[in-house]
Amino acid sequence: MSKVAEIFQTLEYGPAPESAERAHEWLRAHGGALGHFIHGAFTPVEGRELLETSNPATGRPLARVLRGSAEDVDQAIAAARSAQPAWWALGPHGRARHLYALARQVQRQGRLLAVLETLDNGKPLRESRDVDVPLVARHLYHHAGWAQLMESELPGYGPLGVVGQIIPWDFPLLMLAWKVAPALAMGNTVVLKPAEFTPLTALLFAELAHEAGLPAGVLNVVCGDGALVGAALVAHPGVDKIAFTGSTEVGRSIREATAGSGKRLSLELGGKSPFIVFEDADLDSVVEGVVDAIWFNQGQVCCAGSRILAQEGIAEALQRKLRARMETLRMGDPLEKTVDMGAIVAPVQRERIRALVERGRAEGAQIWQPSWAVPGEGWFYPPTLCTGCAPAGNLAQVEIFGPVVAMMTFRTPAEAVELANNTRYGLAASVWSENINLALDVTPKVKAGTVWINCSNVFDAASGFGGYRESGFGREGGLEGLWEYVRREDVDTGGRGAFARAPRRRSRKAGRALRKGVGRRGPALPPVDRTAKLYVGGRQVRPDGDTSLPVLGLDGAVVGEVGRGSRKDVRNAVEAARKAQAGWGARSAHNRAQVLYYLAENLAARGEEFITRLAVFSGDAEDAAAELDATVSRLFSYAAWADKWDGRIHATPYRSVTLAMNEPLGVVGGVCPDERPLLGLVSLLAPLAATGNAAVLIPSRTAPLLATDLYQVLDTSDVPGGVVNLVTGLEDELVPTLAAHDDVDGIWYFGSAEGSATVEGASIGNLKRTWVSYGKPMDWMSESRSGGHEFLREATQVKNIWIPYGE
Ligand code: NAI
Repeated sequence: MSKVAEIFQTLEYGPAPESAERAHEWLRAHGGALGHFIHGAFTPVEGRELLETSNPATGRPLARVLRGSAEDVDQAIAAARSAQPAWWALGPHGRARHLYALARQVQRQGRLLAVLETLDNGKPLRESRDVDVPLVARHLYHHAGWAQLMESELPGYGPLGVVGQIIPWDFPLLMLAWKVAPALAMGNTVVLKPAEFTPLTALLFAELAHEAGLPAGVLNVVCGDGALVGAALVAHPGVDKIAFTGSTEVGRSIREATAGSGKRLSLELGGKSPFIVFEDADLDSVVEGVVDAIWFNQGQVCCAGSRILAQEGIAEALQRKLRARMETLRMGDPLEKTVDMGAIVAPVQRERIRALVERGRAEGAQIWQPSWAVPGEGWFYPPTLCTGCAPAGNLAQVEIFGPVVAMMTFRTPAEAVELANNTRYGLAASVWSENINLALDVTPKVKAGTVWINCSNVFDAASGFGGYRESGFGREGGLEGLWEYVRREDVDTGGRGAFARAPRRRSRKAGRALRKGVGRRGPALPPVDRTAKLYVGGRQVRPDGDTSLPVLGLDGAVVGEVGRGSRKDVRNAVEAARKAQAGWGARSAHNRAQVLYYLAENLAARGEEFITRLAVFSGDAEDAAAELDATVSRLFSYAAWADKWDGRIHATPYRSVTLAMNEPLGVVGGVCPDERPLLGLVSLLAPLAATGNAAVLIPSRTAPLLATDLYQVLDTSDVPGGVVNLVTGLEDELVPTLAAHDDVDGIWYFGSAEGSATVEGASIGNLKRTWVSYGKPMDWMSESRSGGHEFLREATQVKNIWIPYGE
């Protein structure tokens, strides 16, 4: 055994294998043979023909799945069709809750999903665990957001109906998420066909989705041959749209089969993406970029950077560095956490790679592979660098779908562009240069759906992805991707997904369940005394003067007490907000969304308590339940918005575009409305927090107990201390101090006309932005009136960044 001192010298990796036990346990629990997942259950396998799926790292069988038939496709489509009207009728918030639950489920079961993906596909666990699964969750979260915002952001659009989705084997689970998330968010139901080589994670996902409460029939998975099950799905009259990812050849046949049928179609096909390296690029970063571009997932990536175009002056140096790096890549058991490259999905694919490389050699290319031997067991193929490739030859033109990169050289930027576009594909490209002018001059000239500058193979749910030319059409991800799954309700009568406009949502059942507890009281013990404090810097603090104010119920009786905040408390709260804001604003929008979702989750969990409290002030339990529902929904809306309140790109003249970026105001004071004490407060808090501001809020003066009840919810929801500060007290004592404070960047006021005038007058000192209501009533229950764009606009300011672009 090596000594620690020796290990420090050699920097040898120790073994770090991941256990496959849970995944095998799951397969065993299903008898090693899985049926289709239709209408919320696995179909029986007894007496049916089965397909075997194997572990590429060992070549040994892993499990069997049904070899589906046309009747199975019929059955799955019938299930999807019958589930679709109720799924649509659930409304935006209902579907958002489901997608959110799916995202959570994926995170909870992330390890199992990652291990099963690695077993079935051969990709390194480091990738399935750190790339695929987190991106799957991210897609589901992001689309929970789009579900929530569908009515306001895609008004007049409805679902297509039943969608058939066919996916390949390179990213089995991630491709599922790319397809399923937007389809479900927009109110469609799905029949998905995974690839023959990698059906397992789709089946596990369907089962987990069912466990997470997804209604039966909303997501159905049918396994089998492409030519049979895939083709039957494409041809089926009960399908309103086909979404396909796979080879260009099959994509073309699907275009042919659906032409004239009225079915919608999106195709994400092959690629031969250029990786353009200019001589001023940082070559060490380029080398790591190549690793990401072509050796990630063994090069089995539709947008793999499989053609390195290097400027002549640095081509040799780059080759040298690449060879040195290739020697250090670790290939082996993909469950081993230190492994960089795993196995090729199937022998037929490895054979195809080998044959294409040999054809390239015969055409005169030089083939270079590292000196180490690939594992003897399993279907491995080494990283391969091909130089001296003819631009029209096989290595430069054919999608190899393996760890093989063809390198060519160019002299001028114009020549680079010409070579880059010398392909029938147009999926992606990457451009490497330290000169922003050069990079942004070349970018618009390359014909590709995605161009990465000084990076490669980066993906996110907020950004669209899809091809130009023979790489297909349609986009997946972001707002762009949603259009693939909706149709205009007034004009577009194609498809058969006859949908009625969803009733304005309200889950009666959920409402009833929550309402049951209202008004229930325990035996007549005196309540435990709770001194209501202020909430500053993430802690409950006594007001400076240590005095409190009584809070009166409907009948005038005292129902509680709150702290009487002072000017000093306001100043402390502003200080705490300032301290917290920089960190909060710098967090990713996704992370801020997570916190708001968590807040919604915890508020919903304590729903009964809040309904009871609201009813004390309104006397109307039904209405209190509606306010709670609307508050949870509003938190979902702003969680949704957090990563979607994008800026714009202005088409300014000259050689430029202008990025209009939304930035938070900073520290914002908010005076909450007296009416709707919970919903009103959250309607201020959530947009401010979503956009990266820190808030100092003065809760409803008549029913401040709703705010003090919220302290514990904030505490348990990972809201960082200082992002939300709540100071209860008398308006006259608090508002002028807040409005006049020089370290407050903006102030919102929902109250009387006089109060509005005070706020505007007091804000003159530092010319802070003000937004006041002048005593006009606001319909807080209306999502279109008191949620969304206006609040987000008031919470942000625009920075315009001019960058050179194009000629
Ligand atoms: P493929 O395009 O045949 O398979 C993709 C999916 O389509 C699978 O689920 C398959 O069952 C299904 N399918 C096959 N024939 C069908 C048909 N007639 N109708 C409906 N669905 C059908 O890809 P394959 O055979 O797995 O790989 C062959 C080559 O395709 C690879 O070597 C690679 O070059 C390329 N490919 C490209 C992908 C990409 O994302 N760009 C993904 C997978 C493969």
